[in-house]
Amino acid sequence: MENKFFYKFLENITKLDADNIKNILETFETERTIFKKILDILDDAFIVMDSEKIFYMNQRAKLLMISPNIKLPISFEEAYRFFGNKTLYDFLSIIKNKEGYEKTELIEHGKEDRFYEIEKFFLEDIYFIIKIKDLTETKKIELQLKNIESISALNTLAAGVAHEIKNPLTAIDLHTQIILKRIKNGLKVPDEIMEYIKTIDEEQKRLGKIVNDFLITSRKRELKLSLESINSIIDEILELLKPEFNENSITLTKEYEKIPDIFVDKDYLKQAILNIIKNAIEALQMKNEEKKIHIKTFYDKNTDSICISIIDNGIGIDQDKLQRIFEPYFTTKDYGTGLGLTIVYKVIKEHGGDIKVESHKDRGTSFSLYIPITRGAKLIR
Ligand SMILES: Nc1ncnc2c1ncn2[C@@H]1O[C@H](COP(=O)(O)OP(=O)(O)OP(=O)(O)O)[C@@H](O)[C@H]1O
Ligand SMILES: [Mg+2]
Repeated sequence: MENKFFYKFLENITKLDADNIKNILETFETERTIFKKILDILDDAFIVMDSEKIFYMNQRAKLLMISPNIKLPISFEEAYRFFGNKTLYDFLSIIKNKEGYEKTELIEHGKEDRFYEIEKFFLEDIYFIIKIKDLTETKKIELQLKNIESISALNTLAAGVAHEIKNPLTAIDLHTQIILKRIKNGLKVPDEIMEYIKTIDEEQKRLGKIVNDFLITSRKRELKLSLESINSIIDEILELLKPEFNENSITLTKEYEKIPDIFVDKDYLKQAILNIIKNAIEALQMKNEEKKIHIKTFYDKNTDSICISIIDNGIGIDQDKLQRIFEPYFTTKDYGTGLGLTIVYKVIKEHGGDIKVESHKDRGTSFSLYIPITRGAKLIR
């Protein structure tokens, strides 16, 4: 259409007066500016050339070629010194002389590999347009997605295997307990055999813990929420741990505020609090002075949350290790799995909460779990 109009204009140019010509040229210029703008904001690079010369490059092409100051038109040979990207220049010099339609992928090796898709379109006889699409970011995302997919597939597979291990493990546990019960009831076994049985029992318990912790961290499970009293949940855990407190001569102090019941996944939260108290006990086992654990619950106005603080005067955590403690499998213990705090993190985050840790080497550690008061709980309160 434009072409027809243009040639008609040329044919009739002698019959037009100066004002007419000016108007029409202005229209052409406006159109030219609009098209230039459009071409410059495109994500793909466009170069118009023939086998000898480059006539046009849009903004993206100048960026890709790293040739901000190039003056067009320019002979292809002369353009060499203006092009920062020599790989693309070399590639252009090959495809400019190739007959027919081309579409190729090009990899530019460097500190970071870059990927391009290059196409050649014929314009008129000798002219052609080169279109260059930068695929680097797309490839990166594709690769990440592939990694995520394979990691999650691996995780599902591992969770499946872990689950399968649980059945025979339960059988081993059951039979070990039967043997131990028989021995307790008078069955005579040599001391040496007794030691073996004890080792089997300890190791199967350890394996059971590893499998369970792994399943909790890897499994996707919807929270099962119910309205619970946090203070009672902590008391249930402390009841369970009573023998360990006595065995290690730990002094326990409690400071419970009267706090509203909140919606939580009781089993999950119990597991999280248990893991933190267990860590506190383990941090105290290596201490000689008086061993103390202080547990506090209160309402935190700033975050509109219930806070549970567990404070010990144990061995503390090195400053450089502090940021790693929530990582899966990070442990400083000979028999630790390093999943205890990963579980805590997962549980608290799934409740929409937050964790604060403070620790001083040889002086002790405090973990504070913040669980937001949910709307439902507020209504009931
Ligand atoms: N109260 C604490 N005092 C000192 N160090 C602690 C305390 N809590 C956690 N840590 C440090 O953080 C690490 C990670 O804790 P985490 O509970 O995740 O694993 P773990 O206790 O080593 O093994 P497990 O999987 O059996 O719990 C511990 O190995 C320990 O170095
Ligand atoms: Mg632990």
